[in-house]
Amino acid sequence: MADVMPPNMLADVPPTPAGLLSNREKDRLIERGFLGLYRWYTARSQETRNWNPDKSFDWRALSPNLPPEIMTVLTGFFAVEQYAPDFTSSLINLVRRSHGRSHFQMRWGSEEEKHADAWENSVLFSRQRTPEWLFEYKERLKAQTWELPFPDALHNMVYTVFQERATQLNYLNMMKIAQGKSDKPHLQGFSDPVLAKVAQTIAVDEAAHYNFFLEGVRMYLYYYPQRTLEAIRTIVSQFSMPAAKLVPDWEKFYETVYRAGIYGPRDFSRDVMQVAFRNLGIESRRALEEGLKKTREVPDFEGGNFKTTVIWDTFDYGMVEGDVKRLHVKIQDYEKLIGFDAIDPTEFINNPAVPKKTNQAADD
Ligand SMILES: [Fe+2]
Ligand SMILES: [Fe+2]
Repeated sequence: MADVMPPNMLADVPPTPAGLLSNREKDRLIERGFLGLYRWYTARSQETRNWNPDKSFDWRALSPNLPPEIMTVLTGFFAVEQYAPDFTSSLINLVRRSHGRSHFQMRWGSEEEKHADAWENSVLFSRQRTPEWLFEYKERLKAQTWELPFPDALHNMVYTVFQERATQLNYLNMMKIAQGKSDKPHLQGFSDPVLAKVAQTIAVDEAAHYNFFLEGVRMYLYYYPQRTLEAIRTIVSQFSMPAAKLVPDWEKFYETVYRAGIYGPRDFSRDVMQVAFRNLGIESRRALEEGLKKTREVPDFEGGNFKTTVIWDTFDYGMVEGDVKRLHVKIQDYEKLIGFDAIDPTEFINNPAVPKKTNQAADD
């Protein structure tokens, strides 16, 4: 973030109240978490998802008679994913001070690049678009640059959580159609096993991306609840898919995707937002709005930050703490495998600002 740079390295930052973690300490803990998670992720990616966009699929067996709606969808999927170099370079620049996050973005970019190539192959091998058409289409797409939707790293990371889940959902629904499971009249009777395998393979990557960013947002939520919840509220209030303003005929693509039962506003609400909320211990969008509203009503006197007590009621902090601890156990298990544990282990440090649930129960 601007926040990768610990804010308290700047001048005139008020001192941290006794007993609480300073921002510098929090940033250090989050950075260690990211670094461990990134090392774990890379090993897992290589072991379980090391597919190739050319060699992992029997492209010659792809149907030459894909329905026109499917062609529109595949072309749109390709158009979005082929901005991978823009996504990657912008995000790397933003988090370049963080080893865990910047190196992860390179790994992530290498996976997104495979998605672009696999979807491009699907368009090419459909034989419904000529290589010349594809060449010109790419030129048209690449004439535009994708830019970061937000200026800071936290908002972009929160955005990516929702974006990765939405993308995964798009591909899973494409897979179902290609498996012959569509309930839409215009797609019934259609199936293609090659396309089903492509969509499934990419969807598995998107799930892994979602999990990485989700773990990151959980760490921020645990150590910086207020600003993270505010970022989440901002993202869900204005979410749109990446590159929507860059891809030609986006309206037609979006309409086709919607009519095919692949993705639409209801899917976002039910299968993206609510899923991410559940994973972040947030009850609902309304609970989030109301919780944040309450924190604004609490006076913040000098010397005592009362907002920090109210904020913990806005989400299930006990669940999030459990998830952050579990993430650290996963990292520690990985480090034991290599031997890092004996030299430089990643440790979980609890946030002392978190209210103690047991005491609360006793007071009641
Ligand atoms: Fe992707
Ligand atoms: Fe992704």
